[in-house]
Amino acid sequence: MNEPAPLAASQGRTAIVTGGTGAIGTAICRRLVANGMRCAAIGHPGERERLAQEAPDFPVRLADLADATATADAFASLQDELGPIAVLVNAAGITRDARFVKMSDAQWREVMGSNLDSVFHSCKAVFATMCERGFGRIVNISSVNGQRGQFGQANYAAAKAGMHGLTMSLAQEGARHGVTVNTVAPGYVQTPMTAAMRADVLERIVGEVPMRRMAQPEEIADAVAFLCSDRAAYITGALLPVNGGLHMSA
Ligand code: CAA
Repeated sequence: MNEPAPLAASQGRTAIVTGGTGAIGTAICRRLVANGMRCAAIGHPGERERLAQEAPDFPVRLADLADATATADAFASLQDELGPIAVLVNAAGITRDARFVKMSDAQWREVMGSNLDSVFHSCKAVFATMCERGFGRIVNISSVNGQRGQFGQANYAAAKAGMHGLTMSLAQEGARHGVTVNTVAPGYVQTPMTAAMRADVLERIVGEVPMRRMAQPEEIADAVAFLCSDRAAYITGALLPVNGGLHMSA
């Protein structure tokens, strides 16, 4: 049997990571660059000042991905600079946690816009060209809470569950064109997002994780990099949990 292609077989391909300026997104960008890809991030305009202080080591565009036109412009500009996009990782996301009785319309819409509409807009920007070129990898970063729900996260869990519905549909449409579409569902990861949670609530949840710890962003990036590689050519429409055993399903 032939040797399997190395994970770095994707040499020279262009990858875009939405939310690539966040903790998980940055780890993904670095891993894809280490695997030989050209990688750029799209971050939120609200991050401008922070990014001016700590400039990332890959190209960045700022755009509100909840906005269709802003998303299309950002992708067009990155494509002009880096060439056709072969890999898209949708890692942009926010939380606006509240018990449902207290959740405002604005909290619902903000999360739907940033976590689900954004995926539609980003996929729109690349999917047709990927199909025409006969190759593509799309990985959507969902959450364990999209699989099991979470007290205080009706908006976030709905958006993350919706993301996998989009994954499975696009996977069916892309399969004959060499475009795979998969979901990675992280559990609780050590990031500013979890650091913003009430300490006692976070401690209780981590206590329920069979591995008794949060994930590191790099552990999510490794799963994503595999799905983006040539070695994962026959995996599509799948959901890969990376959650320390917090949620298991057949
Ligand atoms: N199940 C059942 N009851 C619960 C509960 C649960 N999981 N959690 C809390 N309650 C109960 C409490 O015991 C309390 O009951 P009493 O009033 O009888 O004492 C009541 O609900 C109120 O609870 P809170 O004090 O938590 O309510 P709050 O309104 O002050 O806070 C909240 C609401 C901020 C949403 C808080 O519950 C919370 O932080 N929940 C966790 C949300 C979460 O997991 N966010 C993840 C962020 S990171 C992320 O999203 C990344 C990822 O993909 C994992």
